[in-house]
Amino acid sequence: MTPSLPTIAPRRIVVGTRAHAEIIAALRTQRPDLEFRGAAHTDVTDGDLAWADTYLGFKRPPRAATMGSVRWVHCTGAGVDSWLAPVALHASILLTRTPESFGPAIAEWAVARIFAFQQQLPDLAAAQRDHRWAPRDVPRVAGSRALVVGTGDVGSAIARALSTLGVTVTGVSRTGAAEPATTPFHSMHRVEALSRLVGDSDWIVLALPDTPATRGLFSRAVLECCRGAVLLNAGRGAVLDEAALPEALDRGWLRGAALDVFTEEPLPASSPLWDHPRVMISPHCSGPTSVAGATSGFLECLATLERGERPRWVVDRERGY
Ligand code: GLV
Repeated sequence: MTPSLPTIAPRRIVVGTRAHAEIIAALRTQRPDLEFRGAAHTDVTDGDLAWADTYLGFKRPPRAATMGSVRWVHCTGAGVDSWLAPVALHASILLTRTPESFGPAIAEWAVARIFAFQQQLPDLAAAQRDHRWAPRDVPRVAGSRALVVGTGDVGSAIARALSTLGVTVTGVSRTGAAEPATTPFHSMHRVEALSRLVGDSDWIVLALPDTPATRGLFSRAVLECCRGAVLLNAGRGAVLDEAALPEALDRGWLRGAALDVFTEEPLPASSPLWDHPRVMISPHCSGPTSVAGATSGFLECLATLERGERPRWVVDRERGY
């Protein structure tokens, strides 16, 4: 349940993120009246949270036992899963999320991987290292078919980028609804059609948050319906049955996989995914939070709270975003 708006007068803010110094410097110029403390989220202590009334950051600080005296958390990432599971932030604490748009950056990540696979860049780099002339056919990306699962800001930006390149893009969402005038999707379907649609796709892009409704959605059973697609995951690791991926690649259900997110991050050194020749791994870097985005979203919510109103960016805890 989304809590009723608590009375909050933020004064002491902990910024728990790697870019804390830059974010605090930017916030101080706008709000010299507030007090700030900063640290990487992994270094935030119980003492910091006992001092603070407000927390700004992407993830729950792992060293802190509780959120101390924090009354408001502003999440600087698009996905708020770290604040809702496995233990939900106490209902009395207000949870807002950044309005920053991560779609354009994640679309660049996806396009880079699609071309890397289609142009066989890893293989050509290996051939070049060996001084080996390795002729091959390189089919066009134009004319191929993509399935984008999750059609919010991120999925729509990916769809726009791909359709500009001549890719036919099908969208899958909870409701299957499209915004008629602006949709970048050639067609839209409800999530129930997923198993049927994956077999017709050259590229499958997962752009979903981790919520009770999406967790495990791309299961082994769905993987088994794929017919040689490349799977890209830019949402959350928990959406995908990661343990079934080596089998899906080895049996040809998938031609390749590009993964930016994992069930456990950092991806453990013992994961078989590191060594798979058709897996491209990136360290959860496809949609970086900018200092300007983190700062302006926070200041907007702060100003709204100070007027005693509800910020536009309060998280719907039931939906999980
Ligand atoms: C990154 O994963 C984010 O949720 O912003």
